[in-house]
Amino acid sequence: MSALDINFVRSQFPAFSEPVLQGQAFFENAGGSYTCKPVLDRLTRYYTQRKVQPYAPYDASRLAGEEMDEARTRMAAILGVETDELSFGPSTTQNTYVLAQAFRQWMQPGEAIIVTNQDHEANSGPWRRLADEGIEIREWQIDPETGSLNPMDLEKLLDEKVRLVCFPHCSNVIGEINPVTEITAIAHAAGAFVCVDGVSYAPHGFPNVGDLGPDIYLFSAYKTYGPHQGCMVIRRTIGEMLPNQAHFFNGDVLYKRFTPAGPDHAQIAASAGMADYVDLLCGHHGEAAKDAAQRGGFVHDLMRGHEIELLQPVLDAVKDRNAVRLIGTSDASRRAPTVALALNRNAEAVAAELAKHGVMAGGGDFYAVRPLQAMGVDLDQGVLRVSFTHYTSQQEIDQLLNALDDVL
Ligand SMILES: Cc1ncc(COP(=O)(O)O)c(C=O)c1O
Repeated sequence: MSALDINFVRSQFPAFSEPVLQGQAFFENAGGSYTCKPVLDRLTRYYTQRKVQPYAPYDASRLAGEEMDEARTRMAAILGVETDELSFGPSTTQNTYVLAQAFRQWMQPGEAIIVTNQDHEANSGPWRRLADEGIEIREWQIDPETGSLNPMDLEKLLDEKVRLVCFPHCSNVIGEINPVTEITAIAHAAGAFVCVDGVSYAPHGFPNVGDLGPDIYLFSAYKTYGPHQGCMVIRRTIGEMLPNQAHFFNGDVLYKRFTPAGPDHAQIAASAGMADYVDLLCGHHGEAAKDAAQRGGFVHDLMRGHEIELLQPVLDAVKDRNAVRLIGTSDASRRAPTVALALNRNAEAVAAELAKHGVMAGGGDFYAVRPLQAMGVDLDQGVLRVSFTHYTSQQEIDQLLNALDDVL
């Protein structure tokens, strides 16, 4: 049995006690998670007590600024990086466009960037558009059957012209977890920086980005039980080297350099609630004393353990079905619990049938047009995607499996 106390976990998510959501099993978590109570509490407190311009000397403003700083300090510590190496921006896609603009200014025509066809468009399109500026774009391609990225194929693409390698920690349709440290080492050995899209991975346990090793790591807090913010780890060396994208007088502050727009103060402040949630899970499961990165690691493993246990039966139930193609590996330990199925009919229509069984899921391309195309999926039909997280219960999995039995 899983070591995770699922009843405690669910008590931290008001959505589970909402009358309108009773009987509704949520399986579109890869699109966006429910929000945990500590985040909601901080958001409410900010809007009711501190909704003033932060960082001025009066109390409400001072508290607003302190809470924003607290969010960055505590989340950076969980992620194993320095406080000023973490910044918040409107979304991962927008953060990536800002980064791409910085690379456009820093790179010379004829130099190269490697992208994959496994990524969500957010970590693909912004880089590919630099081809218009004379930057060479090379594509690291997945295996069309398995959807896997092979690091040996990356080695063949690398040479002295490559400045950056972009890839996902895991894809939002294929789900397989890529070996970030190994890939980063290969890219670094060739003199290239690395930008990892962690959006589909981070909801399943915050990684220790410092230990993992990439230069840039991006994820979206609205999928990690938090508010609608993009979170961006930019390590100091690359952050200080790339040209400043903020107002000229903010260029000396690392965490401001790649967020040109005024930030959403309330949502940044509320992001400290994600750290509260990690600490709550630690405290409840008897792990309160360690440092923040260790607490993050403990919660990561706790979440993963529960998810893998629930995921394997789901994969087993779909992998050999006629007229169903499971996208990605059927080994739960190698993937996130984000399961895309190509069917021989329209996936959105199947999602609508699932809704009648109280299962909330979606169908379509999920902005993963390139990987689905590369795997030969008919985009007019799309894929049915069922995705869950650590707060999903065995009962909800049973509800899903019964509903799938009925509609597939
Ligand atoms: C893997 C992945 N990367 C990037 C994004 C884009 O994130 P955002 O909505 O914060 O721009 C998503 C959104 O679904 C995603 O699933």
